Amino acid sequence: MPNHQSAKEEIKRTADIVQVIGQFVQLKKAGKNSIGLCPFHAEKDPSFTVSSDRQMFHCFGCKKGGDIFAFWMEYHGLTFPEALKDLAERYNVQITEKFSATEEKKRSDLRETLLKINGTAALYFQQALSKAARGNPAADYLKKRALSKEIISEFRLGYAPDKWHGITDYLREHKIDLERAVQAGLIIPKKGGGYYDRFRGRVMFPILNLRGQVVGFGGRVLDDSLPKYLNTPETPVFHKGEFPYGLHASFKAIRQKGIAVIVEGYMDLLALRRHGLDEVVATLGTALTAQHIRKIKGYAKEAVVVFDSDEAGRNAALRSLPLFLNEGLPAKAVVLPNGHDPDSFVNTKGLPEFLKLLDSASSMFDFFLDQKLTQDDSDIEGKVHVLKEILPVLSQLRNAAQRSLYAGRLSEQIGIKEEVILSELKSFKQDLSGDVLERGLKGRLTDPKVEKKIGDIQLLNLLVHHPKAVTGLINSDCKTLLSDDTASKIVEVIFEKYRREGQFSPENIEENLDNDDVRIRLREVMVADSIYSNQEVKQAVEEIREKARQKRLSDSVKEIKGDPEALNDLLLKLRAQISC
Ligand code: CTP
Ligand code: MN
Repeated sequence: MPNHQSAKEEIKRTADIVQVIGQFVQLKKAGKNSIGLCPFHAEKDPSFTVSSDRQMFHCFGCKKGGDIFAFWMEYHGLTFPEALKDLAERYNVQITEKFSATEEKKRSDLRETLLKINGTAALYFQQALSKAARGNPAADYLKKRALSKEIISEFRLGYAPDKWHGITDYLREHKIDLERAVQAGLIIPKKGGGYYDRFRGRVMFPILNLRGQVVGFGGRVLDDSLPKYLNTPETPVFHKGEFPYGLHASFKAIRQKGIAVIVEGYMDLLALRRHGLDEVVATLGTALTAQHIRKIKGYAKEAVVVFDSDEAGRNAALRSLPLFLNEGLPAKAVVLPNGHDPDSFVNTKGLPEFLKLLDSASSMFDFFLDQKLTQDDSDIEGKVHVLKEILPVLSQLRNAAQRSLYAGRLSEQIGIKEEVILSELKSFKQDLSGDVLERGLKGRLTDPKVEKKIGDIQLLNLLVHHPKAVTGLINSDCKTLLSDDTASKIVEVIFEKYRREGQFSPENIEENLDNDDVRIRLREVMVADSIYSNQEVKQAVEEIREKARQKRLSDSVKEIKGDPEALNDLLLKLRAQISC
């Protein structure tokens, strides 16, 4: 067994998947499993299921699932070697054997190198900020912006001195491959050879991921020159809009309070933190993305988005509504008084005033309507215009009940009959709307195949939850009861494994399954409840054997219809079977 296999198993024994996933997704108990809102797709009702017994997760919505490693890789966007390394570190498990140089391994090595270089760079910037405290322009600047020593150190703020070869020389002295530093976005190659610093004369804000690693930087000038902020470009470890700034430092407070306050800028977040509001994250000037919200909803029950009062801020608020609706995270909107951003507001008026604003926040939907209704005239034409703007938003809602709820609110607010709104809404329906899905579902439920499916469900459930039943079934014709290929494949693999090894457990057959549909099906059976109790297993085996016998009989009769001789043979065979 290669060493990483044993490390993998040791981690699986040590780490509890419910506890690990619970750090990133809000889970609640549902029977023997825990459920929550899936971090991998948009959903309003929890279909993301974590099984403590099985130490696995499965989402009934997007069908993603697997063990603790599968979760770690998917959630953090990592390869297996990286996930293994991460979890091994967390659970004090030694890995000695190296992975072979596959493409995946090369990618994970590159990312690790870039993260390390970023970490080194962050230290360099921090040192440059603390050096020569007096007369240090960045330290003076941060004082002017009212940031405390504690905040500066907690968020690892730094200074990129106004030099062309500051970090370039430092990295070279530290024997760092400068081509890699280029890939990390820290330095830029010169046309005639050599390199120069990307960030010069700027206050540096390292951007950390949820694992506490520096993925990139933002740098702010110390005066009014442009560009005001410069960010790390897209790199293998930094993707703008992937996760909100500050979440690594705020997630505990967010979960404790149930609320995430979302602001735009670095300075806004840091100013609020400095005044004692800890449950805050920032989008860094980009529009809020579904990815942001999925990360946030792992901690928050509700979001309050604080928008600047300018046109851009209002438009950002309007654009965020469909995202929140589809991700199922209740959201409120606060618009600051003219000319303020959260930083200037809290620094001039104090935290209590800011909290008052949060308290008075209206729901994002009402805010959306308000904005639309005041922007346009409230005459008939204005109303029709509002309706035109809002219908596409409502039609994006996948949940029909929610659609009709909002249609009701809309009808109240603009005084257009609900029926009219709903019928207008129909004309907007897109292919993936809830109704189409529902119709599809109904169709499937009335399908005659469903009747047959019951056989599949019982048999799979019995084998997966009571592996010892295999002895009673392996020599039966139970496979004839199965109506679809995925179920047949699973039963086949179980029987094969049992024949070869004299036993099997559902956790260990995944490696023998060669396609996703089959793996998904297996996971769904594994996280489902067992249909039979221990006492019922024997009887269930008997019932299935009997059903299989009858099935074979009726199949044979169908085949030999109209051939009396064959029928005679069959009857003889059956009599022989019954007597033995
Ligand atoms: N931003 C950016 N590039 C710019 C301007 C802004 O990346 N050229 C991002 C930064 O993350 C910034 C956020 O957008 O924090 C909000 O921008 P803005 O409101 O203009 O700046 P403030 O955060 O108010 O910055 P400051 O208070 O330092 O002026
Ligand atoms: Mn500002």
